[in-house]
Formats: sequence, C-alpha cells, structure tokens
Amino acid sequence: MAKVISEGIGAFSQCFPRLTVIVTAQAKGRDNAMAVAWHTPISFNPPLYGISISPKRFTYQLIVDGKEFGVNFLPFDRAELVASVGGSKGQQIDKFRKFNIATDKSVKTAVPILKDAYAAYECRLVDDRGYGDHRLLVGEIVAVHLVTEAFAPEEVLDLDKVSPILYLGQELYLTTSKDTVRSLDREVYGQR
Ligand SMILES: Cc1cc2nc3c(=O)[nH]c(=O)nc-3n(C[C@H](O)[C@H](O)[C@H](O)COP(=O)(O)O)c2cc1C
Repeated sequence: MAKVISEGIGAFSQCFPRLTVIVTAQAKGRDNAMAVAWHTPISFNPPLYGISISPKRFTYQLIVDGKEFGVNFLPFDRAELVASVGGSKGQQIDKFRKFNIATDKSVKTAVPILKDAYAAYECRLVDDRGYGDHRLLVGEIVAVHLVTEAFAPEEVLDLDKVSPILYLGQELYLTTSKDTVRSLDREVYGQR
C-alpha cells in the first residue's frame, strides 16, 4: 500500500481505535458526564491517570470547581450511552436524568460512579495544564471500583465476560473479538 507523507496531522490525528470512557464530575450541586477517548494511565506509584479535555466542556468547569473526576469503563452494550453523553451538553440538560444513568456510591470523592461500569476510578485532581486547545487533567486514583468477575488472573480483562467499548472515529464504535487474542511472551520474543 502506498504511503503519503504530510506535515499536518491529518486523518490519523487521533490514533483510533481507542478504548473510550465516560468521565464524570460533580460540583455546585450538579452532576455531569461526558465521553472521553483521549485518556491514559500515567503512573503506578502514585497511581495517576490523565484525561485530555477541551476547556469548552461543561465537565471541565465542574472538575476545576470540584477538584475531582471519575473515569468509568463501560461494556459494549452501553456504547449508546457514550454517544448520548458525548453528544449533549451538561450546561443545557441533566444527563443523569435524561439518559436515566444509574449510579453507585462513590467512596473517597463526590463524583458519580456509573453502576454499569465494569471498572471505575475516583480521582483527585493533582494537575491541570494546557496543551494547545486541550487541558491535560491529571488525577490521583484514590478509589477503584471493579467487577472482579470481569477480570481473569493477572488483572487481564476476561473477554468472555466483558466486551470493552472502542471508538473508531466519526460515529463508529466496535469491540474486541476473543479470536484475535495472541499470547506473545516478551521474554521469549525479546531474546529471539
Ligand atoms: C466517542 C467520543 C469521544 C470523545 N472524546 C473526547 C475527549 O477525549 N476530549 C474531549 O474534550 N471531548 C471529547 N468528546 C466530546 C465530548 O464528550 C462532548 O463535547 C460532550 O458534549 C461534552 O459534554 P459537556 O459539555 O457536558 O461536558 C468525545 C465525544 C465522543 C462522542
């Protein structure tokens, strides 16, 4: 296949597909949720997690006010909810009421944790830095909510139990297929 070289970031600017989450926030008596595809683990010790969001998002204002955020990992059968919270503005509607989003009690923060999440982090904001048109918000993970049956030994997601939500760009979502999983031992492959 032929390659084109360009200086602009172009079509592959967002490196999709990406595991996509719902970020939650709470402040001033308001709960909110938004879809986030740009997110990453940053450190094991202390446990830090980063999300890159536009300062135009209502969620951003709530995180700055509340100094906390939640990161919710949902199964593929809840992909519609990602599109719903990613396609609506918390400044205009109460997304929890409109989309009938059930929550669990958070334990270390006041952020909503989604009942349907197979994993969720409660994070305390430790850094908020601008990079271009987005803000990189770094949170310390202070509580982890896990559906333990969703994980095989060694903390690997059990794909027989949970299908994660991947976002391909535009309005396209997909999930993983267990048939494509390959076990490649790095110790073996690193020495070959
Ligand atoms: C699949 C998907 C992924 C998204 N990822 C991001 C993201 O990583 N960062 C961001 O700032 N906005 C992202 N968005 C856009 C926000 O979710 C969207 O603007 C939302 O309406 C913001 O809601 P709020 O104004 O209530 O905070 C994404 C939207 C979708 C549909």
